[in-house]
Amino acid sequence: MRRLGHRVVDLVVAHVEGLRDEPPVRTADRARLEALLREPPPEAPGDVGAALELLASQVLAHMQHGDHPRFFARVPSPSNGVSALADGLAAGFNAFAGSWAGGSGPAVLELVVLDWLRELCGLAPGVEGVLLSGGSVAALTALATARHEQPGDTVYLSDQAHASNLRALRVLGVPHVRVLASDERFRLPPDAVQAAIAADRRAGRSPFCLLATAGTTNTGAVDPFGALADVCARERLWLHVDGAYGAPAALTERGRALLAGIERADSLSLDPHKWLFQPYEAGCLLVRRPGALERTFAMAPEYLRDVLGGEVDFRDRGPQLSRGTRAAKVWLSIKAFGIAAFRAGIERGMALAEHAQATLEGTPGWEVVTPAQLAIVTFRRDGDDALNAALVERAVVDGYAAPSSTVLRGRTVLRLCTINPRTTDAEIDETIARLTALAE
Ligand SMILES: Cc1ncc(COP(=O)(O)O)c(C=O)c1O
Repeated sequence: MRRLGHRVVDLVVAHVEGLRDEPPVRTADRARLEALLREPPPEAPGDVGAALELLASQVLAHMQHGDHPRFFARVPSPSNGVSALADGLAAGFNAFAGSWAGGSGPAVLELVVLDWLRELCGLAPGVEGVLLSGGSVAALTALATARHEQPGDTVYLSDQAHASNLRALRVLGVPHVRVLASDERFRLPPDAVQAAIAADRRAGRSPFCLLATAGTTNTGAVDPFGALADVCARERLWLHVDGAYGAPAALTERGRALLAGIERADSLSLDPHKWLFQPYEAGCLLVRRPGALERTFAMAPEYLRDVLGGEVDFRDRGPQLSRGTRAAKVWLSIKAFGIAAFRAGIERGMALAEHAQATLEGTPGWEVVTPAQLAIVTFRRDGDDALNAALVERAVVDGYAAPSSTVLRGRTVLRLCTINPRTTDAEIDETIARLTALAE
């Protein structure tokens, strides 16, 4: 095991050190990978060293590398090595964080990390939470909690809310989901919410939740939390804020100004595997109302009777009973680098998007569609939708950088999400230069 472990560390270090020399996205055709990997499960022990090399060189090489400094697509995951080691350590100990009796150490660490994340987002002491696999499961957990605490049948969100929220509502069987048009800056207008609630009440429905977004995936837009929280207070709605992408920006001064009012959320999700530099999987849900998670998720079957009633049983705060520790990686990396480094990393992401915007504005043929906000800038090449979509494909084939595309108000746009603090200004410039060349 020791020898294999050293080799694993060497492979990870070589991956990180060599990233810049590789394309950010590498895809192989299925037949080629199946030829390498498909076989009956071996009956006898095999050469684990060779299998490890195959894993690294073929399986893990053929992916989108969310930690690559020129991966700007969708939402990157600029991970860090310390967290990866913590994940390895936790797996090596097969850490259990489902109950107090079964894992008081991991449980306390999770409480500590949750409190750090709460403070980082500017939420009041006393907020409770749970670490989850990511934003999608955080949405499911939040919306289940909202409906349990405040029963009803109608939810409001904007046309810019992430699709995982719609999926969560579908899974939960919420009958009425009102998708409201966003304003000219892609934010959810409080007046439209108010009007929709009134119309639904007149129709005999019972609104129970409003979902707002702290940093939309499309443009980094932030919904007006203060005014939306006022509507929720007046109408007795649960306010869930999807901060999976943008909430960590609250660590910085200007991020906190942009996210003003976020502390009024009844629940807030955020994804440390996005802008807090953690490897997959690391999501988080914070809930203001004490005991709400337990009231929604607790279970007490007879076969758990020996491990019931602990100080805190995280199996009762979400949909997972057996669960590992996601706190270890967040904790160890914050201990190693300090919050100032995280803050500087987030600042850097915002500055990179501003740099991209300035470069695009100085390059003929490009239109900035939405300005840099929370490290996302969207832009468009003179020409039609087909050209703009084709540019992303051409960039991936070119192999230098990976932008992505999306559709805003019916128009295809390109998009850079620049949250990797290791990206250099020169790499942004070269990305735009190559896109310019690919358009010609
Ligand atoms: C705003 C927002 N919410 C939710 C999600 C879903 O998160 P996950 O992919 O971790 O499930 C994303 C993913 O990009 C997102 O950007």
